[in-house]
Amino acid sequence: MSPAPPVRAFAPGRVNVIGDHTDYTGGLALPMAIAEGTTVAVEPGGDVVRLVSDCETEPAIVALDVSEPAGVTPPWARYVAGVVAALRPAQGATGTVTTTLPVGAGLSSSAALEVAVALALGFDGDALELAQLCQRAEHAASGVPCGIMDQLTSAAGVDGALLLLDCRSLAVTPVPMPPDLAVVAVHSGQRRALAATAYAERRAQCEAAEGEIGPLRDATLADASALADPVLRRRARHVVTENARVLAFVDALGSREYDEAGRVLVESHASLRDDFEVSTPEVDDLVARLNQADGVLGARMTGGGFGGVVLSVCHAEAAAQVATAYEGGVVVPSRGASCRNAS
Ligand code: GLA
Repeated sequence: MSPAPPVRAFAPGRVNVIGDHTDYTGGLALPMAIAEGTTVAVEPGGDVVRLVSDCETEPAIVALDVSEPAGVTPPWARYVAGVVAALRPAQGATGTVTTTLPVGAGLSSSAALEVAVALALGFDGDALELAQLCQRAEHAASGVPCGIMDQLTSAAGVDGALLLLDCRSLAVTPVPMPPDLAVVAVHSGQRRALAATAYAERRAQCEAAEGEIGPLRDATLADASALADPVLRRRARHVVTENARVLAFVDALGSREYDEAGRVLVESHASLRDDFEVSTPEVDDLVARLNQADGVLGARMTGGGFGGVVLSVCHAEAAAQVATAYEGGVVVPSRGASCRNAS
């Protein structure tokens, strides 16, 4: 039998333009896959998965029957182990991981790694199945009870489009990005240290609110206001208003009402800061400065929070200037779906 041919798989990172901390309550989000991403190139064969990474000193060596991905070392190998445990490939592989994503910046470097590893190990299914498998891998690897947004965006990205995700029906609807607008991502420089614990706590608070008023996806502001606990009330109010803002933003893009689109982004940040309490003073400061910059419609934190990248939506002609005004600022072009067997 001749050896299986080499496989090269790419998976993009993502920025979430609006709709944060909604996915795990079956809500709405509007992320975009980006050009930066992770490539896994392997020769299939053998009975372990052995990968070296361009940004890690130690290799990931994972047995095909790995049972506790969260206990694997070095830590980055947990994501590889999570995928192996979820996929159970029939054979191992040896190869390399290269990435253009900053690790841990809030651009879903872990989702991109999971999706690229799954494809390289022979995953054969549709984008939703790929995302669900990689979400299970993330849970097993990190213990963080994340929603589906990051993995689904990486697996289902469409060139030049935002993705309207309905995290209840799991429908993915591409929303064209108007060519006269651009997204600029700027790193706050702050590491996302508290993110994992605080994330699990926020998710539990949403579940506690749902225990009293039913699914937040169906809740009204009046339902949220009826919650006795002031913390749960604020958490629920964020989710209810954020779902509405996703739709308002999509409408504003469609009707070219860019002032309105900017206003909705600014409100989203305020809600994540005040009601959901997942921002930081450094991030708030950067968002405020971006909101003052010429050509910026609106800026907000993006993703899980507690540091990392801030995004702004700008008029396209102003984007390069906005990006260069901030250290590490980049205009993030959108990028199509992950490609399989690209070699
Ligand atoms: C992280 C999670 C996602 C989502 C965002 C917040 O990125 O992985 O599932 O919950 O936070 O919107």
